[in-house]
Amino acid sequence: MANATPAPPPDPVPYIPPMSSPAASPNGNVESLLKEDRVFAPSAAHAAALGGAFCASMDEYRARHARSIADPEGFWGEVAADFEWFTPWTRVLEWSAPDAKWFVGATTNICHNALDRHVLDGHGHEVGIIWEGEPKGANGTPEVKHLSYGELLDEVSRCANALKSLGVKKGDVVTLYMGMVPELAIAMLACARIGAAHSVIFGGFPAPSIVDRVLDASSRVIVTCDGAWRRGQVVPLKKNVDEAIALLAAQNHTVEHCIVLHRTKNEIAWTAGRDHAWHELVGAQSAECACEAMDSEDLLFLLYTSGSTGKPKGIRHTTGGYMVYTAYTAQQTFNLRAGAGHVYWCTADIGWVTGHSYIVYGIMPNRVPTVMYEGAPNWPADDRFWEMVARHRVTHFYTAPTAIRAFMKWGDEHPAKHDLSSLKVLGTVGEPINPEAWIWYHEKIGHAQCPIVDTFWQTETGGHVITPLACATPTVPGSCTLPFFGIDAAVVDENGHELPANTGGLLVIRKPWPSMLRGIHGDRQRFIDTYWSRVAGMYLAGDGARRDDRGYFWIMGRIDDVINVSGHRLGTMEVESALVSHEAVVEAAVVGMPHDIKGTGIAAFVSLGPGHAPSEALKASLREHVSGFLGPIAKPDMIRFTQALPKTRSGKIMRRLLRDVAAGRDSKQDTTTLEDFNVLAALRGNDE
Ligand code: WTA
Repeated sequence: MANATPAPPPDPVPYIPPMSSPAASPNGNVESLLKEDRVFAPSAAHAAALGGAFCASMDEYRARHARSIADPEGFWGEVAADFEWFTPWTRVLEWSAPDAKWFVGATTNICHNALDRHVLDGHGHEVGIIWEGEPKGANGTPEVKHLSYGELLDEVSRCANALKSLGVKKGDVVTLYMGMVPELAIAMLACARIGAAHSVIFGGFPAPSIVDRVLDASSRVIVTCDGAWRRGQVVPLKKNVDEAIALLAAQNHTVEHCIVLHRTKNEIAWTAGRDHAWHELVGAQSAECACEAMDSEDLLFLLYTSGSTGKPKGIRHTTGGYMVYTAYTAQQTFNLRAGAGHVYWCTADIGWVTGHSYIVYGIMPNRVPTVMYEGAPNWPADDRFWEMVARHRVTHFYTAPTAIRAFMKWGDEHPAKHDLSSLKVLGTVGEPINPEAWIWYHEKIGHAQCPIVDTFWQTETGGHVITPLACATPTVPGSCTLPFFGIDAAVVDENGHELPANTGGLLVIRKPWPSMLRGIHGDRQRFIDTYWSRVAGMYLAGDGARRDDRGYFWIMGRIDDVINVSGHRLGTMEVESALVSHEAVVEAAVVGMPHDIKGTGIAAFVSLGPGHAPSEALKASLREHVSGFLGPIAKPDMIRFTQALPKTRSGKIMRRLLRDVAAGRDSKQDTTTLEDFNVLAALRGNDE
């Protein structure tokens, strides 16, 4: 069947060194030892198994891509016609770099397209969300909920009315800080329904991260849970919110209302008048709530993501273009089809853009059930995901390379125990995938039957921008292959000139696309500086890349001070700020280093103030301190104490040198003292 034996490539593919090697990716990334240059081509059998291909061949891909670039308005106008709009657009696109308006003048509501539409079309009884809780009962079975579009519409409407009853109106920002429970998706859709933007904060973030985001968004309503289940433990979400609200009050910002879903039943503090129990407040509302007519360019949500400088930035996504692009990419990339028995599972947390676009907004309009899982992949055992694939007969499975590397480490016996024959398409996202992990995924999870779509995209792009299409694109492990329809991606030099094949350069997108970010909340200049200044008139992704002889893209990793830890974006500066706020620390520098599982680990070089001496206990205290500011994902994997940091004559920290030290490339040197750093610096020239 399908991919059982890899099909021969249509033309010779030169060996391309894996881009995830440290040499190629300055900020870390797991090292690849496997030289894998086979091409894996989808076949007609794949398409048949998926109920037909949306794009069946490379000829078709090329023709449609060429048209989407030559005539974006015609192309996207046709795609958008498949959605329901309350009033039509007058123009498909208005573009004045860096500002795009898509479906100008049209009104719609994304919640209508995700729910009402299916109910109105007679599909209200079909399952929209399959949810599985983490804990298992005494009989070994977890709690599972199947929520139909009709049930979801009722609950979303009740939640929307509850928000209204608290005074939330169009244009307000509602903060959602919850675990992976259906009510999180329900609250997002409820916000969208009444035209309030949501700002989802990942439940793994501690109170200070909530404070920054709530302040930046001027948000006065928070929806949370008492706690969230994670690896058998309760993450105290409400407690974190209480702490954040107190910190905010000290900064003269009042959070007026807090809706609390009782999930874990842990003990929580309660502030009468401000705190409202979800089951009481939402439960008491009517299930009728008309959708707000949203202008295509009205704000849908803010999502905060790390950059190389300053605090996380609130990426702005608007209604019409985001709706069309995320649902269309989901359909075309994964070949998702309503009524074909598909069950789609993305293992991301909704706190990240992957969950926004490819658990909720891009999937629900396609009328394919989306699986939401509450907890950890290894709870109570290392086979939890595979047990779930079998239990729910998952057809489409989308996860991160870092998870795949963990599965590899845990052992082949775990997937082998379960019936994975329902799987038809596998996906990865978030970081470069090393060929070892790609091949393992292909063989042990896909049983060589499933195309793998390695989707490159970002919080800022809203949806996939460089990706294979499941039934059309021959794949090469480690390459995210070719631009999606409408994406004019290129690898260029600093002047915007396209580079020849196999030459590394800056990844840019030269034309607007519907789900591109519309700005950074409250910071126009940062938006222009970050994305639109280095190469004039082009969107700068912030990644290095190169194309091979067939035009396939290979992502080489970030070109800025952002590192990608387990597929999560972190600014090294954020970790540095957290470290220097510790009483013992005078100065800190943080760089990425290769890490077997996380892809990139965090290495911190720290100099201490008088009266503080290096010790293991201090290392532990620093790790906890960072976690208290930025969450456990930001805990340094390696801490080195040093008397001072190596700097250039102009005072810039020599990060390249630190990266080499962290990667062990200067392992013969003892690098723990200023003198040694100076020797290293002198050896390399003081030129960074
Ligand atoms: C990286 C996640 C290689 C990249 C959707 C990008 C990838 C950053 C891939 C965005 C991929 C994402 N191959 N690298 N398939 N997908 N990245 O905003 O460095 O959390 O710039 O969005 O992740 O991370 P973000």
